[in-house]
Amino acid sequence: MRVNSNQNGMSTINESEVEKEWKVKASLMARDTFNPIRDILETMDITPHPDKKMISLSIGDPTVFGNLKPSSVITEAVIESITSGKNNGYGPSTGFEPAREAVAKYLSVPDGEVTKDDIILCSGCSCALDIVISALANRGQNILVPRPGFPLYTTLAVGLGINTKEYNLLPDQDWEVDIEHMDSLIDENTAAIVVNSPSNPCGNVFSPAHLRQILAVAELHKIPIIADEIYENFVFPGSGIYVPMASLTDTVPILSVGGLTKRFLIPGWRMGWIAIYDKQNIFAAEVRKGLMCMSQRIIGSNTLIQGALPTILQKTPKEFFSSAINLVHKNAKLAHKKLRGIPGLLPVMPSAAMYMMVKVDMERFPLFQHDLQFVERLVSEQSVFCLPGKCFNYPNYFRIVLTVPMELLSEACDRMNQFCLTHLICPPPSRMVSSMIDQSTLYATYGKAPGMFVDNPHADNWHSTWALAVSLAQAMQNNRRMSMSNNSDDDDEPGSDKRVRKLSTNRYDHSQNLQRIHRRNSLSRET
Ligand SMILES: Cc1ncc(COP(=O)(O)O)c(C=O)c1O
Repeated sequence: MRVNSNQNGMSTINESEVEKEWKVKASLMARDTFNPIRDILETMDITPHPDKKMISLSIGDPTVFGNLKPSSVITEAVIESITSGKNNGYGPSTGFEPAREAVAKYLSVPDGEVTKDDIILCSGCSCALDIVISALANRGQNILVPRPGFPLYTTLAVGLGINTKEYNLLPDQDWEVDIEHMDSLIDENTAAIVVNSPSNPCGNVFSPAHLRQILAVAELHKIPIIADEIYENFVFPGSGIYVPMASLTDTVPILSVGGLTKRFLIPGWRMGWIAIYDKQNIFAAEVRKGLMCMSQRIIGSNTLIQGALPTILQKTPKEFFSSAINLVHKNAKLAHKKLRGIPGLLPVMPSAAMYMMVKVDMERFPLFQHDLQFVERLVSEQSVFCLPGKCFNYPNYFRIVLTVPMELLSEACDRMNQFCLTHLICPPPSRMVSSMIDQSTLYATYGKAPGMFVDNPHADNWHSTWALAVSLAQAMQNNRRMSMSNNSDDDDEPGSDKRVRKLSTNRYDHSQNLQRIHRRNSLSRET
């Protein structure tokens, strides 16, 4: 015995024992928990140019620039909640009944109804995700998550010993899920599929038809869905519609997570929720109780905001939502227009949420080994900071936020232009590319009506057109170089017979190229 108790109940230490040293280790969970964004940002050198004011397009917090403020209805509701003195005590672990009732009413749509008993209030959507992942999956199991996707899914899962498997989103198909790839990842240890629409970082919204395709995979394998719907209804006018995933199925059980964070522009208030959609009572046996138990771990939801929730959800004016969406939409159009004019950048026009993904054609910037270096140098030379695609496990892209004041966004795009023009070692034949994009042959080749590529908000068109135009232009340049080297310089006088012949040879080669690419495209469309 190293510690003795004396007659008075006092503890004494046996002095003959060698004194031990303090060795306090972090738990395995703490050691396994890491946030890729923090991890990557901490290794980066983010030093702005001393003479240029920093413009940060990296933070997904719509409040940082002060241009997007919460509605006064919302702030007054919270003041009222505080002064009433009724919301200072502990609430039930799932949240006060009137607050849950209000959320149920707010979320319910035809074929997707929920009641207060299906709602659990949480401390932000992150907490909701933590609860649903822990309630559905065991250590050693896996969940499917999107790539590129919000990194918190992996942070939460890996800390719990749950693996994540990433299914691909397709940038040239408006970031839809590669359904075959998703299907191929599922095994006997798959506990849930995470679906995020509207999406961070892609800024797209899945159509009801596409959501049904995902549901079909879940149905086939009998795997529940975690629907991250934190950007619910945040869709640009005319760019698609938001439909809660649960309203499209009678059979697949869905845990939808959301909250006030994004649509109501109050991320710091930490009000999130889980909605249990389960028409077949598949969760009744265990999961529902599991969720309740998990909610008891910390009783996470703030009671002052719970007190204001019924007013916030029922009385916030429609114009508040539409004005925020219009601001972000305008910014998206501006950034897309400016960035697509920058050689080497390929922005993907979003249709929802608050972000835009931009592809960097890294081959044209051989000075930089990877996108992190590109982003670092953009900060050190132009003081513009974008989030590297690596944060979403999607290299060679960066993400910009669209909640920034328009003048700042415009200035940031101009600086990016300057940066790219400085470093573009292999400039695409941009004039040729532009003229081809305007040319009806290219539209015909690609099978779209003239005028649609440039103005159609759907990025995949622009993406593919740009890539097609670049390869065409390169092929033309190569042909020209080859035919030039086949002819001696003194033949090149304007008007000489040989020059006329050479130009016409080039024209012939161009049309052959066009036909070849046309054939390739129609083949790939057929396969
Ligand atoms: C897709 C997605 N899900 C969840 C969250 C977390 O939201 P909250 O701040 O309410 O925890 C975010 C925040 O950016 C997000 O983008």
